[in-house]
Amino acid sequence: PVKLIIDTDPGVDDAFAISLAALSEDVELLGVTSVFGNVGLEATTRNALRVLELCGRSDVPVAAGAARPLVHPQPARAGHVHGSDGLSGRSAALPEPRREIEPGGAIGLFVSLLEAADEPVTIAPIGPLTNIAVLLAAYPRLKEKIGRIVLMGGGVNRGNSTSAAEFNIWSDPEAARRVLVEEDVPCVMVPLDLTHQCAVDTAWLAKLAAASPIGAALDALTPDYLASYRRSLGWDGIVLHDAVAVAEAISPGILRTEPHPVEVDCSFGPGRGATLVDQRRPEMRGEGEGAVAPSTVQVAVATDVDGLGEFVLG
Ligand code: BDR
Ligand code: CA
Repeated sequence: PVKLIIDTDPGVDDAFAISLAALSEDVELLGVTSVFGNVGLEATTRNALRVLELCGRSDVPVAAGAARPLVHPQPARAGHVHGSDGLSGRSAALPEPRREIEPGGAIGLFVSLLEAADEPVTIAPIGPLTNIAVLLAAYPRLKEKIGRIVLMGGGVNRGNSTSAAEFNIWSDPEAARRVLVEEDVPCVMVPLDLTHQCAVDTAWLAKLAAASPIGAALDALTPDYLASYRRSLGWDGIVLHDAVAVAEAISPGILRTEPHPVEVDCSFGPGRGATLVDQRRPEMRGEGEGAVAPSTVQVAVATDVDGLGEFVLG
C-alpha cells in the first residue's frame, strides 16, 4: 500500500478526500496535518479529527500546522463556499473525536513519520502549501523520503479566488512557489481545469448517501457547498477538487499528467497566486546552452471521468 500523509484544510471536498484515503485498502494513512484555509486553523483541525472519527480511524495521528501564510498577514477564507465551520454548518453532526492532536505540531509529525519511513512517502497537500514549504525549508534531508507530492492547486486556464488564481495557491503564493518551483521534489499538480471536469451531480451524491452510513454522513455535509456552486456556476452539483488529487495519490496513474515548467506569481498585482504553466515546446522556450533548467511539474490534464467517479464512490 501507498504510504500517505494528507495536509488539509477541511473543507467539504477535503472531508471527501480524507475519507477516500482513510477507507482505502491500498493506503497506509500515516497521518493528517491541518493548515488554515477554507476556515481558521482551529476549525480545520477539529474537522480533520471528526472526519477520521467518522471513518473509524482514530488510530491516525493528527497535528495542527500553520495558522496563517508565510508572508501575507491575512489568511484567506472560503466560509462563503464551505459554510462558517468549513462543513456547511453541519460539523457538529459528525462524531465527537476521541483522539487528541499530537503535541509536536504538523512539522513535528511530518519529521517523525518521514524519519521512521522505510519506503517513499506520498504527501497529498489539499490546502494552502504553508506547512509543506516550512517542512522542505527546515528539513531538506527529509526530501529523499518523499516519493511524490500530489497536490490540489492552481489552474492552467482558470482561477476561482480571482480570475487568475486558485484558492490554495492564492492563499500562500510564496509557499506554493517554494514547493512547486524552488525545491527539487517530484510534484504532481492537480489544477482546477481537471477537477471541474470531474464535477459530480446530485444523483451521484444520492448514490453515495445510499451506499453506506459514512456516505450518508458525507452527503449531509454538502448543502452550503452545493448552494455555492448553484450560485457561482448555476449548476446542481459540486466539484470534489481534493478527492481528485487524493485519488491520484492512492492510485498512481488514475490521472493523465504532462510535464510542464510551472511558475507561481508572487507579485502583489492582479496576477498574484496564478500558476503559469508553460505549454510551449522546449525549443520555443529559448533554453539555450547555459540556461537554467526550469522546474518541471507533472500537471494532471485528463482522466476517465466516469471511472474516477466510481473510484471515489468506492
Ligand atoms: C480548493 O480550495 C478549497 O476551497 C478546496 O477545499 C480545494 O482544496 C479548490 O480551489
Ligand atoms: Ca482543501
